[in-house]
Amino acid sequence: MTNKTLKAFEKRHSIYNINNELNLTDLEIEGLINKALDIYPSAFNSQDARLILLMGEHHKYFWELVKKELFRVSKDNKKTKIEEKIAKFEAGYGTILFFIAPEIASTLEKSYPEYAPQFPIWAREGNAMLQFLIWSIFAENGIGASLQHFNPLIDEIIKQQFKINPKWEFVAQMPFGGIVDMPHNHTIKYTDERLTVRP
Ligand SMILES: Cc1cc2nc3c(=O)[nH]c(=O)nc-3n(C[C@H](O)[C@H](O)[C@H](O)COP(=O)(O)O)c2cc1C
Repeated sequence: MTNKTLKAFEKRHSIYNINNELNLTDLEIEGLINKALDIYPSAFNSQDARLILLMGEHHKYFWELVKKELFRVSKDNKKTKIEEKIAKFEAGYGTILFFIAPEIASTLEKSYPEYAPQFPIWAREGNAMLQFLIWSIFAENGIGASLQHFNPLIDEIIKQQFKINPKWEFVAQMPFGGIVDMPHNHTIKYTDERLTVRP
């Protein structure tokens, strides 16, 4: 593969072994995320993604709250595993919380009633594109990240503790940090079935 863009995307992996050492300043990290927010595509250019960037104590507190919620609903024999899993995320530099501002889709639904059922779906799809973009930009800048979904379990406590708009839809969490261990490329499946070409 020689294409530069593809090479950059190839660097993106789910990286779970991360630390809190980065060669970028907080302002540079913020700049990368802002750039992604400027360029990601969204349905009808709705730009309805909302992000919260947690670093330092905020990042740590977030994962402590996630652990607390997981403990609350788990059996005792699962707690060591949960502890180990959350400790890996908490060891990172920061976490991005991904949300959707649903009032934008509601407005669009009124303007384009023929597409009304699609707007919440497109909001999710646009958000996923932003997630992928940030994940890839991070990879290109030597930042390791993974994508996590502890929703809806954590929604209420996180919105309350971090004073987040209760109407926002909480869709994903991305812990990131310095790369301790680079995983192998994921296994490629279904090579014959996934692309149909009709030349
Ligand atoms: C929509 C979506 C949801 C995912 N949810 C999680 C998750 O909750 N936890 C997790 O560790 N990885 C999650 N992943 C990451 C996938 O497991 C991972 O991308 C896949 O196994 C391929 O590995 P790679 O990211 O290293 O290429 C998710 C990925 C996608 C696209």
